[in-house]
Amino acid sequence: MADLRTTFCGIGLKNPVIAASGTFGYGLEFAGQVDFGRLGAIVVKGLSRGPIDGNPSPRLTETPSGMLNSIGLQNVGARAFAKEKLPGLARLGVPIVANVFGFSIEDYVEVLRVLEDADGLSAYELNVSCPNTHRGGLEFGADATTLGAAVSAARSVARRRPLLVKLSPNVTDIAEIARAAAEAGADGLTLINTLRGLAVDARSRTPLLSTGYGGLSGPAIKPVALYMVHRAAQAVDLPIIGAGGVATGEDVAEFLLCGATAVQVGTASFWDPGRTAALAAELNSFLDAQSVASAGELRGALEMP
Ligand code: SIN
Repeated sequence: MADLRTTFCGIGLKNPVIAASGTFGYGLEFAGQVDFGRLGAIVVKGLSRGPIDGNPSPRLTETPSGMLNSIGLQNVGARAFAKEKLPGLARLGVPIVANVFGFSIEDYVEVLRVLEDADGLSAYELNVSCPNTHRGGLEFGADATTLGAAVSAARSVARRRPLLVKLSPNVTDIAEIARAAAEAGADGLTLINTLRGLAVDARSRTPLLSTGYGGLSGPAIKPVALYMVHRAAQAVDLPIIGAGGVATGEDVAEFLLCGATAVQVGTASFWDPGRTAALAAELNSFLDAQSVASAGELRGALEMP
């Protein structure tokens, strides 16, 4: 049996496979379908200052090897999450990460203030990369200066727990963005969020999503995610969580080789709710077959030409 344990920003994970924000609800919805003990951690749906209903349907559509979404940050709000969801989640015995969303810097700060008063969380993940809102999200993640301001403000409030920053692939130079997050005080990075996309119904001559554009995820974006994880790992000395098309144990290995310490699984949960929990065993089989004693041995070991 290979050693799958890892430490991310001081948080001990029993394996490097994490359920990604937005595709695993508040975790508890998966009770009875998923053995939580097989997960490295859970990142909950992005939390905002107040509740958000999200965008009208249709807001999800399948694409070749992927999925396009424009959910629009539907969530119960940080206060209701802390009161109604977190106590049950905290009892699962898995590190819980809160994904934090804002329409403004003040919103991010306020959500973090609420969460700082709550017990049961292991870390924060600052969502500066959602492409599905007109304000906030990607507005803060697309430019190094604006990103730095958002991360600095969040850093000044997030005192109890590590602060991860979830980066967008919709940028010119991911290395510059990663450096800006590091300089502003991020403890770790998650990358990537979804790629902006458009799916079209040629017969009705309309977009398939109510909002027109959406965010593309799934196996179709894995090469982009691997590239960006590799570039960011070269640019900053921060632990990185890789995300984007992870669906098998071998995918996990690929992200570790590119410099990730852990991975998040998102879209795969839509075709198989148990996929995330199955990946640690698959990674173990892969490592055994390769005679690799621990997952950590793969980190950053990609041999580039
Ligand atoms: C959404 O809720 O629209 C997706 C969240 C994200 O991309 O961060």
